[in-house]
Amino acid sequence: MIRRGVSILAVAGVATLALFSAQAGGQGSSTPAASATPGATPAASPAASPVAVDELRVVEGKALAQSLCITCHTVDGRPLVGPTWQGLYGSTVELEGGGTVTADDAYLHESIVDPMAKIVKGYPPAMAPYGTLLTDEQIQDIIEYIKTLQ
Ligand code: HEC
Repeated sequence: MIRRGVSILAVAGVATLALFSAQAGGQGSSTPAASATPGATPAASPAASPVAVDELRVVEGKALAQSLCITCHTVDGRPLVGPTWQGLYGSTVELEGGGTVTADDAYLHESIVDPMAKIVKGYPPAMAPYGTLLTDEQIQDIIEYIKTLQ
């Protein structure tokens, strides 16, 4: 009985090791186990990841915007306290006091960290700066989200 128990444990141990080395092989080593696994070719991962990262940024940005910004900004074209974000990215924004600016990444970033720098025509200077509340990463996430609102 004892011998049998030991040999079962030994088999389980070998199986675990085999599984472990197959997983390690999937991350780039060229063990026979990895190359024999269908669908686990290393080429599949790098091609898929940039899309996945952008989608993650948009999801993060949307969540941040919904908790911090939608009291004053809509995403469906209606003005609220501030201008709508629908169609904002890439558009030409008219500014209070004359002049225009293209709503690119730099303008959106400035509008979030320093809203008083350029005031949108027809709106009050009512937005607080978010540069200390949000990291640059989070601000970029919100910008990626705004880009999707065309
Ligand atoms: C208290 C209301 C309020 C809140 C909350 C608010 N904003 Fe604003 N926002 C405004 C107003 C008013 C303007 C227009 C005046 C100006 O240019 O500052 C504006 C302008 C902007 C602009 C420029 C829009 C354009 O059409 O050019 C951006 C981008 C922006 N806000 C982003 C944000 C983000 C991101 C948040 C959340 C982190 C946020 N705002 C939260 C009121 C607000």
